[in-house]
Amino acid sequence: MKKTLLIGIPLVIALLMAVFGSDLLGLYRLQHYLTASTAAYLADGGSWPHVTDVCIECHGVKGNSLHQGYPSLAGQPAPYLETQLHNFAREARRNPNMEPLAMTMSDTQVKYLADYFSRVPPVANRYFSPDQQLRARGQQLVAAGNCAACHGARLMGHDQFPRLAGQGYDYILAQFDEFASGARNEPTGVMKVIATRASLEDRKALANYLASLDPTKN
Ligand code: HEC
Ligand code: HEC
Repeated sequence: MKKTLLIGIPLVIALLMAVFGSDLLGLYRLQHYLTASTAAYLADGGSWPHVTDVCIECHGVKGNSLHQGYPSLAGQPAPYLETQLHNFAREARRNPNMEPLAMTMSDTQVKYLADYFSRVPPVANRYFSPDQQLRARGQQLVAAGNCAACHGARLMGHDQFPRLAGQGYDYILAQFDEFASGARNEPTGVMKVIATRASLEDRKALANYLASLDPTKN
């Protein structure tokens, strides 16, 4: 009897594995994945839900947007992000998505969000493929316009000046329009002058160059 059992059990297991093997393994892997990702989620900002979960849909996982129309928040200077959220809230910067959202945020939440996203390392805007001719023209315009004087070395941003390296192409173009029309303003007034003077071709050239800069390499 014992002997039959000894042979029997491994046989049953072998049979089960043969029939359900890949499913059982799949279930084990799923369980493993869930445990690992839950731990990562908790480590990232406490228990569910995070206030940053709301932002993912448009700004990408951890604020690294892979959509050219939505800005990346990752690695932007905290004071800059804070100012922008306040600007949306007081309708000094117009946007139908951000205004209502920013109006509901407390100062503590604004500070937390700005601090959180400023700490996330930015990644390259890898789904953007630049037009090489326009990109070369954009590089000349950036040098001639001395954009780095305000936007910092390698256009990585600091204080109230945003990082431009690797930002979304359509988003950058839209910002030029907004500075030109006055829907968006900044204290130096320089962005309005730049956006108004540059031809559409030059704005596209600038956006091509900026969107294709890799913030992890330069
Ligand atoms: C439904 C989409 C949507 C959601 C959700 C969303 N945003 Fe935005 N956000 C946008 C869009 C679109 C813009 C660009 C606005 C513009 O063109 O001026 C933007 C811009 C911003 C900017 C300015 C970025 C820059 O470079 O100047 C900040 C800061 C920001 N969002 C923070 C947040 C935070 C924090 C959350 C989550 C609490 C969030 N957003 C959720 C759509 C969204
Ligand atoms: C005198 C300083 C100054 C110079 C020079 C300058 N900028 Fe800016 N730029 C700013 C400031 C300040 C902002 C943030 C505006 C705000 O707070 O809304 C800005 C914002 C921008 C934005 C929007 C970025 C975002 O994430 O929303 C773009 C794009 C931009 N600048 C491009 C350029 C380019 C291209 C040049 C060079 C041709 C340039 N800037 C030169 C001060 C400057």
